[in-house]
Amino acid sequence: MDCQRSIAEAIAPLCGQTVEEILGWFECPKNSEMGDVAFPCFRLSKSLHLAPATIAEQLKCKLTLPCGVARVEAVSGYLNFFVDTSAMSMGVLNTIACMGDAYGGSSVGEGRTVVVEFSSINIAKPFHIGHLPTTAIGNSLSRIYKMLGYNVVRINHLGDWGTQFGKMLCAYEKWGDRPISEYNVRELVALYVKFHDEADKDESLNDEARAWFHRLECGDERAVTLWKQMTTATLKDASRVYDRLGVEFDSYNGEAFYEDKMPAIINELKEKGISKLDQGATIVDLSEWKMPPCIILKSDGSTIYATRDIAAACYRKNTYHFDKCLYVVAYQQDLHFRQFFKVLELMGKEWVKDCVHVNFGMVSMEEGTLSTRHGNVVYLDDVLNAAVNKTYDIIMEKSPDLEDKKAASEAVGVGAIVWNVLYNSRIKDTSFSFAKVLNFDGETGPYAQYTHARCCSVLRKAGGFDRATVDCAKLDDPYSCALIKALDAFPEQVAQAAEKYEPYLIARAVISICSAFNKFYYEQRIMADDDATRNARLALTDATRQVVKNGLMLLGLQAPERM
Ligand code: ARG
Repeated sequence: MDCQRSIAEAIAPLCGQTVEEILGWFECPKNSEMGDVAFPCFRLSKSLHLAPATIAEQLKCKLTLPCGVARVEAVSGYLNFFVDTSAMSMGVLNTIACMGDAYGGSSVGEGRTVVVEFSSINIAKPFHIGHLPTTAIGNSLSRIYKMLGYNVVRINHLGDWGTQFGKMLCAYEKWGDRPISEYNVRELVALYVKFHDEADKDESLNDEARAWFHRLECGDERAVTLWKQMTTATLKDASRVYDRLGVEFDSYNGEAFYEDKMPAIINELKEKGISKLDQGATIVDLSEWKMPPCIILKSDGSTIYATRDIAAACYRKNTYHFDKCLYVVAYQQDLHFRQFFKVLELMGKEWVKDCVHVNFGMVSMEEGTLSTRHGNVVYLDDVLNAAVNKTYDIIMEKSPDLEDKKAASEAVGVGAIVWNVLYNSRIKDTSFSFAKVLNFDGETGPYAQYTHARCCSVLRKAGGFDRATVDCAKLDDPYSCALIKALDAFPEQVAQAAEKYEPYLIARAVISICSAFNKFYYEQRIMADDDATRNARLALTDATRQVVKNGLMLLGLQAPERM
C-alpha cells in the first residue's frame, strides 16, 4: 500500500492528476511477470492527446523510481512496476517487530469516541446461544476500534425492566424457598416457567403480578430489593461466561436506568408536535416512511422498549459525546431500529446519522450437536463446556505430553465457538457442529491457534535469532514472498473491518496468513544449513507469530503458545 502511494506521488506531477486519482487507477497484474502494480495509461490519452503506448514510454523515461521499486516496464499502454521485494520485506518485518502487539492498529481514532452496545442480555432469562453473535461481534469491534486509537465505551444494555418482573417477583414470593441472592439464573428461569404454568390454571396470578410490577415502578422497598438481587444473581452467572469470552463492559446501564429519563423525552416529542394521541396511546406516525407507528406510551400510560431506546440514545450522546454509536443487535430488530432512529431524526437530533444498527443473522446448531435438556433454549455455557470437553479429548490424542491440557482446551474450545460466528459476514445465518468448528485443519479457530503455536514451537526450538542482521534477500522464494504479502495486508483489513463493522475480514486475513505460513513451513526448511537463510526465515516466523496473535486477539480468541 505504502509502495503504491509513493509510485502515485512520482507519477502525479508528470501527468497533472492528483495522487488520490492515480491511486484509484492502479491495477493488480494477473501474473507476477507483469509486475506488482500496473498503471493503465489509456486513462490519460484523452487529456494528453497521445496514444497510451506513447504515454507509457514517455512516463517511463521521465519517472524517478521511488525507493522500494526495483524497475518499471512499459508494455502495451501500461506501466508495470516491480517492487523491490527485499526492501519491501525488510519494511514489513521491521514494522511488525517495532509495533509488536499494536501491529494492525493506527491512531486514526485518536480523540474520537465509539460507543459499542452489545450482548445486552435479559435479567432472569437464559444467556443463550442467540446472544453469542452480539457478544462476539461486539467484543471484536470494541477491540478493533481500541487498536485504531478510538476511545471505546462498551455498554451492556440490560433487559432489566418490563412487566415480566412483576411475574418474577410474584413467583418468588409464592414459591421461593431461600434468599433470592442464592438463586442462579437457571433457577430464576424455572420460577418464571412455573409462574406461567400456574397462571394458565389460575388467572388471578396475573393480577398479582401486575400489582407487583406496580410496586416496583413506585419504588416499593421490598420489590426493588428483590429485583436488584435478581440482577446481581443473573450478572454473577453471566460474568463467568464473559470471563471465558474475554469480554468486559464499561457500563451495565440497562432499560431500567432510563425510567426517570423518559418523561423529558415524552415532553419534547409532544412540544415539538412529533407525537400524537391515537386511541389513548401516544405514538409517532411514520406512515410517510412506510413504517408502522412508533409507540411511545401505551394506552395505560406505560412506556415501552422504543421509548427507552430513544432516551438511551440521547443519554449516550450527552454523556459520551460519541462520534459513533453502534448497536450490535440481531436483524429481527431491523424495524425497531429504523423506527426509533427516524423518531430521533424528527426530533432534530442530527447526530442520529452516527447511530448504526450493526445487525447479524442467527446461529443454530446442527441436529444432535447438543442434547437440549432445557427444552428449546440452548445455554451458551453448555455449548462452551461441550466444546472444551471435546477439545480436551482431541488434545489428549494429538499432544498427550502437553503440560497444561486444561488451559489449552479452554482456549481452543471456546475460541472455536467464537471463531465460527466471526468467520462469515455478519448477516449470514450460520449453523454449526462440533466436528466442523473443532477441525484443526479447516478454516477454523483451532487451525489459526495451532499455526500460532507452531510458530512459537519453531522459535523455541531454534533458541532465537538475530534481528539486527536479518538479510531479506534470503526471502525471495515464492512461499516467503506470499507470506510477507499476507502479513503486509493485515493492517488494511483491520481498517476495513472497522469501516464495515465486519470482524470476519480479520478472520479471513488471519487464515490467509496461516495458510501462507503453512505452505512456507512445508516447502522451505526453516532451519536451513545456511546461517543467513535460517536467520531470515526465523524472523519471518516470528513476524507471523506476532500477526496471527494480534488477529486472534482482535477476534477475542486466546493465542496459546503450546497446544
Ligand atoms: N435485550 C434485548 C434482547 O435480548 C436486546 C437489546 C438490544 N438493544 C437495544 N438498545 N434495543 O432481545
